[in-house]
Amino acid sequence: MKIYLIGFMGSGKTHWGKQLSQKLNIPFFDLDEEIVIEEGKSITEIFAALGEEYFRQKEKDVLYTITEKHHSFVMATGGGTPCFYNNIEYMNRKGTSVWFNCSVECLFVRLVKEKEKRPLIRALSDEELRHFIIKKFGDRKIFYRQASVVINEDDITLDNIVDTIFHDEED
Ligand code: S3P
Repeated sequence: MKIYLIGFMGSGKTHWGKQLSQKLNIPFFDLDEEIVIEEGKSITEIFAALGEEYFRQKEKDVLYTITEKHHSFVMATGGGTPCFYNNIEYMNRKGTSVWFNCSVECLFVRLVKEKEKRPLIRALSDEELRHFIIKKFGDRKIFYRQASVVINEDDITLDNIVDTIFHDEED
């Protein structure tokens, strides 16, 4: 069982991923964390020193490595993971992708408090952040929509995530 949680920054992938992995009794991986461990640098440092293209290549490499090495897991991916290198197609082939679909307003409220650790938004004013979310989320929906399972913001509970994943998989 390989479960990939996808969605925009701030949609709750890491928060729910940890809980889901405990409930299913399988390992949890945070893709960003694994990249940080491998590179010995924070995500912000990787973007600054080596650039986004380098990060995206590394993101793909680590996604593939964990997928090939482990039989079962829940993985919180990065907000951009499904949008590069056909990663969404790869994840759907190897397991089940779950999109946490949150509204722009909900994302804004969460991200405005957490800009610092995210290189793509750390330098933005609040107003710029709102525009960034609207634009980027709009551009990325075409990838997020390809998820095997969609969980909407208002329905996010642990039981509902489990029910939706297993119900939809049986269909
Ligand atoms: C990114 C999201 C981040 C991280 C990197 C790029 C993005 O992950 O991978 O800063 O392109 O949306 P989170 O969604 O876990 O914040």
